[in-house]
Amino acid sequence: MSTAPQPGKFITFEGLDGSGKSTQLEKLAQALRLRRIDLVTTREPGGTVIGERIRALLLDSRTRGLANHTELAMMVASRAQLVGEIILPELRAGRWVLCDRFVDSTEAYQGAGRQLGIETVRQLHRLLCRDLWPDLTILMDTDFIASVQRARLRNRFGGPGHDENRFERESQEFFSRVHQSFLEIARREPQRMVVIDARPPIEVVHDEIMRVVIERLITSEQTSRQAQV
Ligand code: TYD
Repeated sequence: MSTAPQPGKFITFEGLDGSGKSTQLEKLAQALRLRRIDLVTTREPGGTVIGERIRALLLDSRTRGLANHTELAMMVASRAQLVGEIILPELRAGRWVLCDRFVDSTEAYQGAGRQLGIETVRQLHRLLCRDLWPDLTILMDTDFIASVQRARLRNRFGGPGHDENRFERESQEFFSRVHQSFLEIARREPQRMVVIDARPPIEVVHDEIMRVVIERLITSEQTSRQAQV
């Protein structure tokens, strides 16, 4: 049997603003740690010192006049840094990486929402982000109008640091395109992306996510290790 560290697993969470992604990512991280899985959590845009600076500019509602292509380039720049600095080294060291948003967000928000095209996004991913794809993507699916309203309430009444970001000011048509695009990715890549109904209570959603992770990543990992022995 090989003694080289097993490459870690890469899980991403996707969905509209206010779909409960971040809460579920943290709950999954806790549950996996209890199973003695060594992992790191991160987010996009951001996740590195450089990426967080890019994020500040991208999300600040005071940033005016940012062209759509510039926005796309900045999302990809933040990701290129995160992939090189954190995600790949952690996976190679055998740790799991849980990331709040990844390339599917760019396909949905810039490709479909801003109508810059899916192929442009995928080409940039190949060129600049090593064409790295998650082992599993959890799509937190929710009624898009309710989810956008939830994010707005959180940001307006959530206290300091909760500014309504540039995206949350977008129109319902924009979010409808984003929502449809996420569902389209799930139809296209069912082996990678699993749609989770985000509307039930937090614990119910968590149990469902755990079931999927065990079925897709933990059981299959054990089976393939047994096959190697
Ligand atoms: P954030 O406050 O982190 O929102 P959430 O908690 O809903 O994830 O803001 C991230 C915003 O950036 C969100 O509105 C989606 C947007 N975004 C893109 O438009 N493209 C991308 O590639 C990524 C990663 C995020």
